[in-house]
Amino acid sequence: MSNLTFAQDIQQGIPTIIPSKKAFDPTVNHAPKRKEILSKEEKRLALQNALRYFPKEQHAELIKDFAEELDVFGRIYMHRYRPDYKMYARPISEYPGKSEQAKAIMLMIQNNLDHAVAQHPHELITYGGNGAVFQNWVQYRLTMKYLSEMTDEQTLVMYSGHPMGLFPSHKNAPRVVVTNGMMIPNYSKPDDWEKFNALGVTQYGQMTAGSYMYIGPQGIVHGTTITVLNAVRRIAKNRDDIKGKLFITAGLGGMSGAQPKAGNIAGVISVTAEVNPKAANTRHSQGWVDEIINDLDELTVRVRKAKDAKETVSIAYLGNVVDVWEKFFDENIYVDLGSDQTSLHNPWAGGYYPAGLNFEEANEMMANEPEKFKTYVQESLRRHAAAVNKHTSKGTYFFDYGNAFLLEASRAGGEVMAENHIDFKYPSYIQDILGPMCFDFGFGPFRWVCASGKPEDLEKTDAIACQVLEKMMLTSPEEIQQQMADNIQWIKGAQENKLVVGSQARILYADAEGRMRIAEAFNKAIANGEIGPVVLGRDHHDVSGTDSPYRETSNIYDGSKFTADMAIQNVIGDSFRGATWVSIHNGGGVGWGEVINGGFGMLLDGSADADRNLKMMLHWDVNNGIARRNWARNENAIFAIKRAMEAEPLLKVTLPNLVDESLLDNL
Ligand SMILES: NC(=O)c1ccc[n+]([C@@H]2O[C@H](COP(=O)([O-])OP(=O)(O)OC[C@H]3O[C@@H](n4cnc5c(N)ncnc54)[C@H](O)[C@@H]3O)[C@@H](O)[C@H]2O)c1
Repeated sequence: MSNLTFAQDIQQGIPTIIPSKKAFDPTVNHAPKRKEILSKEEKRLALQNALRYFPKEQHAELIKDFAEELDVFGRIYMHRYRPDYKMYARPISEYPGKSEQAKAIMLMIQNNLDHAVAQHPHELITYGGNGAVFQNWVQYRLTMKYLSEMTDEQTLVMYSGHPMGLFPSHKNAPRVVVTNGMMIPNYSKPDDWEKFNALGVTQYGQMTAGSYMYIGPQGIVHGTTITVLNAVRRIAKNRDDIKGKLFITAGLGGMSGAQPKAGNIAGVISVTAEVNPKAANTRHSQGWVDEIINDLDELTVRVRKAKDAKETVSIAYLGNVVDVWEKFFDENIYVDLGSDQTSLHNPWAGGYYPAGLNFEEANEMMANEPEKFKTYVQESLRRHAAAVNKHTSKGTYFFDYGNAFLLEASRAGGEVMAENHIDFKYPSYIQDILGPMCFDFGFGPFRWVCASGKPEDLEKTDAIACQVLEKMMLTSPEEIQQQMADNIQWIKGAQENKLVVGSQARILYADAEGRMRIAEAFNKAIANGEIGPVVLGRDHHDVSGTDSPYRETSNIYDGSKFTADMAIQNVIGDSFRGATWVSIHNGGGVGWGEVINGGFGMLLDGSADADRNLKMMLHWDVNNGIARRNWARNENAIFAIKRAMEAEPLLKVTLPNLVDESLLDNL
């Protein structure tokens, strides 16, 4: 154990004396061994790369350790350099340094590595299996040291976890500029990540892992609630009509586990199938799902009773989702709403459990007979699609939840293609729900963290945000009233729902005006001494930050969804309008090479500079994406950008002229 104080440990950076080796801790959730991908020559290069952080005289000792890590884990994490102090977001005043902005970034970095927050904390992975904050512990140490000594006249440059150094800049420049996984486009296939990450020259930053903006499960609960609520609205005539509607889905895992909670908030009956008893029991014990049933007949009786009584209830079915879809068709139980959140982005290694095998049988076959297992998955997907089709032919509304269900079902030969053989029969959650109903109007996942670490500050900011939204709602147009109402309801219930894990953080969906007004009110409250400083940010899964043709930008239909100009423009624009740090990533959610996404962080300290920056930057950060969505002829975005131009005379956006369809038809 180190005798240094927390501040001294940060300030020393890389210890001058090599620390002793650290034993592997089996109580911590560890990343799986990564694919063996480097040639002998490339392994030499990986070791050379790792050793360049250390003085020459230490190389002989360290090389053995690092070579062993590369063999055992497939990566060099430099475990012995992991600090002994507890990893969590401390109050900002506890961080050493000369720049309050740099201290805020330290707080956010530590939150992403907190054991209560991070998925594989010892491998510096925050979420999503490979979403890294840094590639190794020495990068962490060096970055924290730079942050502790930098001034507001410098900018720290981060190349995929590696701190390239401090460069002179000015007080209105970002304190940190982060790039993660940016590759020459032809080198962006999944195995390229494996290779270049093993070499120690790049990393997969996911969205909010490598950008220091993750806030634990709260973001998922909110996003899922908004999605399920709006999906229900597509099929319900009015509020009263929601009662008694039945929602069928699958998965009670990391993200999917939020579905029953969201179902309850939306007021429906939800049945979520889950094959893994551990996952189902965890969600049940957390109160995220009300009841667990493991018999199909019993489930049928229970659902009929719930429908008759128009209950709001969430039921976990311990078994395969395919069996539920088939049984309910045979029993003539009408399903109003359907989706799926099994991990089909990973179909052959445990993401999807095929019907016809129980959980243990499936795990055994997966490990011992992988080829046979694959044929079971494909057969199950064909059955799955056929059962969903039978229900939708009776009127069920089915949507894909960004988990590649339609993609894998189509590859397996399931009947999910539309008549044009190009599109899928069913929409994705972005195409039908989040895109037109939220992103095109500018509503997206705005978040903040109270840097004092005080729960009472979070409570005060919740109240401020609520007041701002309620005031805005009095004059907001009909088109966005529903979104405003949903988020007011969310923020009112936020304290009671105890959503905080890690830092004192909150998320809600707001449009450009809402984000600016809330931030302005926070800055005033800081200036008046009512609350401590606040870090603003957002998920990258937003209006303008992300270009991803099968997710965030899947409702762009002018052919430009395969371009990434919007995300790049966004991060450049944020950086000269006052962001405290900016980030741009390749990969995140849907995979390396499939998406470019960016984000920002901004420290509000109550100053006049912060007031100017927040207005200028948040205005651009949302309206950039609305302008692009408007140019793609999205009706709601045309409405929103016209409204933004009326409010801000300096904003002048090119509007599209719509072509009369008959002119094209008559060609
Ligand atoms: N919630 C969101 O906001 C969101 C957004 C985009 C994409 N997704 C996608 O949703 C998927 C799920 O994410 P996760 O973090 O919950 O993954 P996860 O692996 O933690 O959970 C999936 C669960 O599905 C269960 N399962 C698999 N096959 C099943 C079957 N046939 N029947 C019943 N249960 C089955 C598994 O046991 C597992 O617990 C991922 O592909 C993710 O990319 C989620």
